[in-house]
Amino acid sequence: MSSEIFSKVNQIKEEIENANVSSLEELELFRIKYLGSKNILKPLFGEIKNIENQRKKEFGQLVNEVKQIAENQFSQVKEGLDQKSEEQESVGLDLTAPGEPEKIGSKHPISITMNKIIGIFERIGFVVEEEREIEDDWHNFTAMNTPEDHPARDMQDTYYLLNDPKHLLRTHTSSVQARVMKNQKPPIRIIAPGRVYRNETISARSHCQFHQVEGLYVDENVSFADMKQTLLYFAQEMYGKDVKIRLRPSFFPFTEPSAEMDVYWGLKNEDDYRITKGTGWLEILGCGMVDPQVLENCGIDSKKYTGFAWGMGIERQAMLLYGINDIRLFFENDVRFLEQFKSAR
Ligand code: DAH
Repeated sequence: MSSEIFSKVNQIKEEIENANVSSLEELELFRIKYLGSKNILKPLFGEIKNIENQRKKEFGQLVNEVKQIAENQFSQVKEGLDQKSEEQESVGLDLTAPGEPEKIGSKHPISITMNKIIGIFERIGFVVEEEREIEDDWHNFTAMNTPEDHPARDMQDTYYLLNDPKHLLRTHTSSVQARVMKNQKPPIRIIAPGRVYRNETISARSHCQFHQVEGLYVDENVSFADMKQTLLYFAQEMYGKDVKIRLRPSFFPFTEPSAEMDVYWGLKNEDDYRITKGTGWLEILGCGMVDPQVLENCGIDSKKYTGFAWGMGIERQAMLLYGINDIRLFFENDVRFLEQFKSAR
């Protein structure tokens, strides 16, 4: 009888020693079977009373030994498994996990529009000039023939620097004309893209910061017809070969004569009526023949040279190209807005 029970314990011992535990789930089953509150060794302790006296001690030792083996086995395997999962975590290697999509940026619609305009003029020989946004009074106003008492100088329109009324945030890119003419000799053929600032109430239609592209061409015998042809070429490249343009007489202190150029947008639907205020025409730029006084202010002989210039707003054109109806969207940098221009170029 007792040898039977001895061999049962030895069998369990062998089972434990050969147990193949390689996962946390298997380890838990192992624990329940050999070390849990209802483990299979427990009833064996109760058998001790049936064993002949001289073997009682031996039996007790054997069962304790088996229990010990089970405990050692358990903690050994557990340690191994813990270490393995730690390693996996630190390497972070899960070859089956789906890849993280790369976040690819997109060009800002203002940059796209600006680059398009720059490209159009570069193809006919205009060179990009970039200049400072903090300008002095002279380059922004005086050189551009804007007298001291001109309403454009009013504090309401212009941001002056605190404690320095001679410096301001440029109100237009025309200041670059003065900088270029002072430093270069004709022939001059430049475009000046950049940001400008005006103290305006922010709304869906206007902002205190926006972008312009200025153009200037100074040489001998430059005529109004040259200007018209250059701007027609631009409109065709930008809005299609069938575009219609018109020049309306206007006034700017720095050009004489001055004009504003409209492109025909059309009146096909309600939006067209709203955008063009019911006329079908859209004003996109101001232009004119450079006032001889401006040439002289910048050290260019106005008897020998003539020139034309223009300044166009970028936001307005970007809004048209992409059907955007609120100028503030350009400056909020909300990725949900910007992401929509991924495929534009
Ligand atoms: N500077 C003008 C503005 O900000 C635009 C402009 C008009 C620029 C006529 C010019 C020009 O060069 O000739 O509204």
